Amino acid sequence: MRLGSRVLGCGLLVLVTASTFTLAQQSNLQAIECPFPEGQSVSSETECGKYSTCEWTDGRCHMVDNSLGGYTVVGDAIPTARGYKVTLVKADSSVTMFGGTVENLVFEVIYHESYHVQVKIYNPDTPRYEVPWPLTLPDTPDTDPQDYTVTVSGADTPFHFNVTRNSNGNFLFHSMGPLTYEDQFIQIHTKLASSYLYGFGENTHLSFRHKFQPRSTFPIFARDQPVGTEPLNEYGHHPYYMVMEDDDGNSHSVLLYNSNAMEYSTFQLDDGTAALTLRTIGGILDFHFFLGPSPEDLVSQYTGMGGSTYLSYLLVPGLHLSRWGYNSTDNVRAARERMKAMSIPQLGDLPDLIQELHNDNLKVTTILDPALVIDFDTYQPSARGKAADAFIKWMDPSLVPSDQEPGTDQYVVDGQVRLYLDRHERTANFGTNLDKPFNWPPGVDPLEPQMSRQQVGQSTLHHMMIYVGDNQSKKISDHTICMSSNQTDGTTVFLHYDVHSLYGISETEATFRALHELFPNKRPTVLSRSTFPGSGRYAVHWLGDNSADWTHMHMSIIGMFDFNMFGMPMVGADVCGFFNEPDMEMCARWMELGAFYPFSRNHNTDGTQDQDPGVWPEVGVISRDVLTLRYKYIPYLYTLFHKSANHGWSVVRPLLSVFPTDLIARDVDDQFLWGSGLMVAPVLTQGAVSRDVYFPEGEWYELVSGVKAATGPITNTVPAPLEIIPLYVRGGVILPYQEPSLTTTESRQNPFGLTIALDKGLNATGDVYRDDGESEENPISPYMSNFYYSQGKLDMDVKHGEEQVAGLYLDTVNVYGHPSEPQTITLDTVPLDPSAWGYDAASRVLTVNIHAPLDVPFTLQIQ
Ligand SMILES: *[C@@H]1O[C@H](CO)[C@@H](O)[C@H](O)[C@H]1NC(C)=O
Ligand SMILES: *[C@@H]1O[C@H](CO)[C@@H](O)[C@H](O)[C@H]1NC(C)=O
Ligand SMILES: *[C@@H]1O[C@H](CO)[C@@H](O)[C@H](O)[C@H]1NC(C)=O
Ligand SMILES: *[C@@H]1O[C@H](CO)[C@@H](O)[C@H](O)[C@H]1NC(C)=O
Ligand SMILES: *[C@@H]1O[C@H](CO)[C@@H](O)[C@H](O)[C@H]1NC(C)=O
Repeated sequence: MRLGSRVLGCGLLVLVTASTFTLAQQSNLQAIECPFPEGQSVSSETECGKYSTCEWTDGRCHMVDNSLGGYTVVGDAIPTARGYKVTLVKADSSVTMFGGTVENLVFEVIYHESYHVQVKIYNPDTPRYEVPWPLTLPDTPDTDPQDYTVTVSGADTPFHFNVTRNSNGNFLFHSMGPLTYEDQFIQIHTKLASSYLYGFGENTHLSFRHKFQPRSTFPIFARDQPVGTEPLNEYGHHPYYMVMEDDDGNSHSVLLYNSNAMEYSTFQLDDGTAALTLRTIGGILDFHFFLGPSPEDLVSQYTGMGGSTYLSYLLVPGLHLSRWGYNSTDNVRAARERMKAMSIPQLGDLPDLIQELHNDNLKVTTILDPALVIDFDTYQPSARGKAADAFIKWMDPSLVPSDQEPGTDQYVVDGQVRLYLDRHERTANFGTNLDKPFNWPPGVDPLEPQMSRQQVGQSTLHHMMIYVGDNQSKKISDHTICMSSNQTDGTTVFLHYDVHSLYGISETEATFRALHELFPNKRPTVLSRSTFPGSGRYAVHWLGDNSADWTHMHMSIIGMFDFNMFGMPMVGADVCGFFNEPDMEMCARWMELGAFYPFSRNHNTDGTQDQDPGVWPEVGVISRDVLTLRYKYIPYLYTLFHKSANHGWSVVRPLLSVFPTDLIARDVDDQFLWGSGLMVAPVLTQGAVSRDVYFPEGEWYELVSGVKAATGPITNTVPAPLEIIPLYVRGGVILPYQEPSLTTTESRQNPFGLTIALDKGLNATGDVYRDDGESEENPISPYMSNFYYSQGKLDMDVKHGEEQVAGLYLDTVNVYGHPSEPQTITLDTVPLDPSAWGYDAASRVLTVNIHAPLDVPFTLQIQ
């Protein structure tokens, strides 16, 4: 009724239109739920009545109309050098959700690139916290963008805005309902162009594609939260999503650049339209829209802004063997010996042992908990930190607990720091704010929970509408320090409340810089669990504390997709599970899958049985075979990493990235590709000895045998006994490889080969990149060559870096899908002896032995 009043009184015809409009608006409104701090289950007319911005209609508590609960546009848009601005004023100050309404706002559009526009909504009178982490923005922005239009409603009308793709009128954002902008509660809703929504992290996703029914709400706030199956906020903070708009595969992505605790809800309007609500409890609304139009364009546009991804040390692609609680060096040796005895290729995780491992070309990674001893006199790191004023302080001296360690002044002290100091795990605060954290020593009295001790529970900083973790403290300070703490970057003082989720990226960057200083011109490898947009510049990532659980195995693929979207392609999950103990079958399947994680590490928690692959003879054999295959194709993987660092492309891809117009591919999240050429279809089900594999359009060959597997699009059931992980190469692609050895260092010296998979037109292309694997600036120019195969003719073209491959040869060329037995084969017009090739008519695989130096272009002609 409130809605209709503005249009009543018009002529009959208009009235009909108007009431249609009103009904449509009303049904949209009803779908826009009013957020209850206690959760939707308490929704009732009485609860609803407590909030002036909420209204009860037909059993639903929803936000009131935009003209009442939202903002009104004041005057016309004012052009700026790079866009325009308009002023907004709160429609009715008395209508609030939690109070602290910001009365005046500015809506500002800032053009950056033809494919990138920023939209900010902020308080012009009193600046609010904004994410201080810098983004890489163009020096010479696009001032007259042709590809998109950002429109805002006219003067004196309720505020909403649209972002539209000009080429086809698809919308990227279509805000609806009231904008809520209060000191600790900001909320905006948008329709989505389609229900093909992906991304957002880091939280539990059971499917890569998001669901809209029933309504689902997910939190975002960095937290030491093991992987679960509930929608929990985990280690990183990535308010970034992608929508595939239409059947042509046009896609856009959106970053809400905000580091405060937030949540998002996916739901359907009453007419079935997919919609999204975004909520945050601080900062401003700062959106970045990317136009793509392909999913892969989006990865590169986004990583370009966050700072390109980092080419990791070449040795990182090896297998990592790790555990919490190798309680003696003998146990590390034993695990190492088990691996060696079974010829499992490896790269493991002091002095004698490290030397021993180094002698065997193995590398050692240290895991550090960056906590300091409270001793400002004799302990140098603490003393220096104090001198540099680097420690976090209580926001107000009255908050310093009376029983805090003597001599710690105004610092925020984790009462358990000393107890944690000798542990070797992650960057995290364990169990703070709890009576007894999980690792509390037996026989020691529990501390009083931090928050009640510090009286900050009463602070207004603890609105509880954001779901933060599990049932433990029910405060956002759970597993971390108090939100009312001050931190500084040396210039500005920030509240922990605002910058909590930046802690991980800050440490990562500092570690990266320190390593750089220690080892000039070497590429540092920093592994971080807590990430933020831009972390890909400094760190590789593992997906956190999962469990030996088949569902978690599946979820690791979704996590890999998410992090490839977020610009962190060097990613993987703890193989065989961190918590709990896998059985032989699960560990075997997980080693198979993990061999294709870019970051492949078998890791488990303290106090569990060993799970390195050498523990079970079957797993040992399976791991040896599958890791041998991984090591063989490291030249392909490394080339993908080079492209990621240079162009911001992804490394592990969902099928939809390679086949954006294939609607079936958009729902596949149990198969993935390395680049666009190698497809992995792991078995994720206990007891399964086959699985259904979806083959998108084109020719597909079994990677190992070269036998044609399918001509897509088609779904086939393929055999997959325990020792087999289905692997396919896509027609049209050339995968470079190198004969594998037991370590990546040794593999590097071996001869190269090519796996050439022909498409329907008997063509294929590929390339190979190589550098010294460890220098930041290669002393010798990196090597790059391209391979083109067309109907029997293979051309190799060296782009640069001949010196880098001096003494290395391409020994083998395998052609999959070769139509017939060759009569002659010439290398640079010189005929090869027929003994140099073999053709298998049944599999249509041709193998040619050549011995061509990699630094000289050549032509191989097969007739
Ligand atoms: C936004 O798009 C919708 C749907 O096309 C349209 O009704 C509305 O007028 C647009 N608003 C603005 C401000 O362009
Ligand atoms: C040390 O770890 C091994 C497994 O690696 C385990 O069997 C053993 O019980 C542990 N010993 C102690 C003292 O924790
Ligand atoms: C903490 O920060 C607030 C806001 O900047 C400031 O008012 C306060 O003085 C700071 N407290 C300390 C102990 O520096
Ligand atoms: C959380 O609490 C609810 C209600 O008390 C209970 O049903 C649920 O099992 C608890 N969840 C966890 C993870 O402890
Ligand atoms: C294969 O390559 C040849 C020569 O480059 C080209 O003419 C032909 O169109 C290609 N065929 C297909 C199906 O791409």
